[in-house]
Amino acid sequence: MHNPKLVCVVGARPNFIKMAPILAAIQKTDPDLPVCLVHTGQHYDPQLSGSILAGLNMRNPDYELAVGSGSHSWQTAQIMMKFEEVVLKEKPTAIMVVGDVNSTLACALVAAKLRIPLIHVEAGLRSFDRSMPEEINRIICDQLSALLFTTEVSAKANLLQEGIVASHIHFVGNAMIDTLIQSIERAVPSQQTLMRLGLNPLEPYALVTLHRPNNVDEPVVLKRLMSSFQDLSLKIPVVFPCHPRTKCQIEKLGLVGSARLLLTESFDYLTLLGLLKDAKMVLTDSGGIQEEATVLNVPCLTLRYNTERPVTLTHGTNSIVGTESKAIEQKTNQILTSKAVSPHRVPPLWDGHASERLARILVPWLYEPTLLHRKKEELVHD
Ligand code: UD1
Repeated sequence: MHNPKLVCVVGARPNFIKMAPILAAIQKTDPDLPVCLVHTGQHYDPQLSGSILAGLNMRNPDYELAVGSGSHSWQTAQIMMKFEEVVLKEKPTAIMVVGDVNSTLACALVAAKLRIPLIHVEAGLRSFDRSMPEEINRIICDQLSALLFTTEVSAKANLLQEGIVASHIHFVGNAMIDTLIQSIERAVPSQQTLMRLGLNPLEPYALVTLHRPNNVDEPVVLKRLMSSFQDLSLKIPVVFPCHPRTKCQIEKLGLVGSARLLLTESFDYLTLLGLLKDAKMVLTDSGGIQEEATVLNVPCLTLRYNTERPVTLTHGTNSIVGTESKAIEQKTNQILTSKAVSPHRVPPLWDGHASERLARILVPWLYEPTLLHRKKEELVHD
């Protein structure tokens, strides 16, 4: 019997939300398995990092690489250099990454270069839009992975199309939804947040989030979207927690909110969850919120022209609306005037038990003798 060791990586806000229940499930399945948690520091603002960890009851990382922001290549390279040092010291049997952020890619590359088996959680999602940095990260990471866990049926078809071996792919469900289900009762009541923001807690409201470079870094698009939100706020108050990059661009362009279009700091996880749960609708370019809105049965208008999460369209509450004012107006009016209640459907295996299924496959896999043998033979650095 050998003693495996797992290194797990988090870097940006959505990673923490996915990793928290997975760490707990692994610990429950095999309390003696050494698991080392590395935070790359891609996100470092308290609202995007520290308070997220606290809200999720997640343990503190063993390593903080404190990489911070920069160009995509700079950030990826910095993470690679610092993460390589950790891996050489820890000598893990395998490395686990989640999602599609730059930290995911950087650490996947380090694993591949040091020939350590890589595990990818949330594998196989594809927007088929290579102008998105996340799409590049997903494709490369999946190609390098030895074990791939998927959240929806479309992902397996995408992976098979790209030549991934079927026996390496496991459909376990959505770990982010595990966290949602575990946290929903602790969510900060929306009325409390609305009152704090000076809004009537009994009036319906819309929630907005925006952070994609295609929307935020393009002045024409950002101005047009802000004007759509202003129009919407004449009909229903709009709460818009701004990601740091969004806040920065809004200020640069001299754009402003109003008493009914409330631009706020990013909220911590439990505050955002409370607001999302009770919103009349959410307008967003986030992938995670498309999934969370689906489970909470809140109409979601995606301010993009594609989604890598098609199950939120077929089984969920999501609609692709794009960024044109007319389309946004039409769709928001439809939601405001519709009396019909759509049936609530939740995608397969988004049941709060994805992490347990994942751990039941992962732990025995880590004990496979071929894996340890491989590590000793192949962990070389010259
Ligand atoms: C990253 C992910 C995106 C994910 C999002 C979740 C990539 C390519 N993108 O986007 O997929 O949906 O996280 O939030 O990895 N900044 C701060 N404080 C922070 C972090 C960032 O002020 O703690 C500012 C910096 O000016 C930085 C900018 O935000 O340059 C962008 O941050 P970055 O981590 O590069 O990407 P996100 O837009 O957050």
